[in-house]
Amino acid sequence: MSAPVKKNRKSVTEIRDQKNGLPISCLTAYTSLTARLLDDHVDLLLVGDSLGMVLYGMDSTLNVTLDMMIAHGKAVMRGAEKPCVIVDMPFGTYQESPQMAFRNCARVMKEVGCDGIKLEGGTEMAETVEFLTQRGVPVLGHIGLTPQSVNVFGGFKSQGKDPEEAKKIMADAQAMSDAGCFAIVIEGTVEPLARKITETIPVPTIGIGASPACDGQILVTEDISGLFSDFTPKFVKRYMELGQGIAEAARMYSEEVRAGTFPAPEHCFGVKPEKKK
Ligand code: KIV
Repeated sequence: MSAPVKKNRKSVTEIRDQKNGLPISCLTAYTSLTARLLDDHVDLLLVGDSLGMVLYGMDSTLNVTLDMMIAHGKAVMRGAEKPCVIVDMPFGTYQESPQMAFRNCARVMKEVGCDGIKLEGGTEMAETVEFLTQRGVPVLGHIGLTPQSVNVFGGFKSQGKDPEEAKKIMADAQAMSDAGCFAIVIEGTVEPLARKITETIPVPTIGIGASPACDGQILVTEDISGLFSDFTPKFVKRYMELGQGIAEAARMYSEEVRAGTFPAPEHCFGVKPEKKK
């Protein structure tokens, strides 16, 4: 039997201690390959339910299942040695009651072996977050534009513009922090409000379409690398165009297959490569 790979991942308490310290760099990962590529570079990997849209071509995250999250969570754990790994709880697996949330979160924690889970919601989820954190489930909160509520918001619209909305988001942040979240993602929220929340609550905020003042930032890896191009939200910066690179590799490969120049002798078994003259 081979020895298990030694992992020394960042803990949720180390993430929490980065409040007002070195900004926390977070990205999504859905596969072992991506986790390995990101391993040296980020503090936290999120197995986000955005995988429904990015990997599976769904219109929203609503149809993602617990089994999908567990399968991708396990894959990421096989590739991640250093960053803290958090798995998103999909729609319908935690909202009904604290007990139901605990059952499903415990299943994720046991089967994946991740460091914690993420769930969406504010004051209405505070009782559940308290129930989970008191029973050993570390929780990353997610407030503001919460994609699982896209049908309530009437689309992917930025949040916190009107004063009532802003007041509610601030109360959500406070409630999630009081309930025991080790950090809170703020998504699609006007900059001054995200800044104010960051200055107010004692746990780190992780922004996505929020504010540079947040204690950390998160984006979807396929967005920053130019692999996902169905749409590009305003808050995404594309650092590379890997999608174009893959399409170009496929074009060159097909051209060589059709021309009969691939495979060459060096790609074949039992054939001596021709000597260069
Ligand atoms: O599902 C996801 O990827 C997220 C993000 C915060 C990017 O929730």
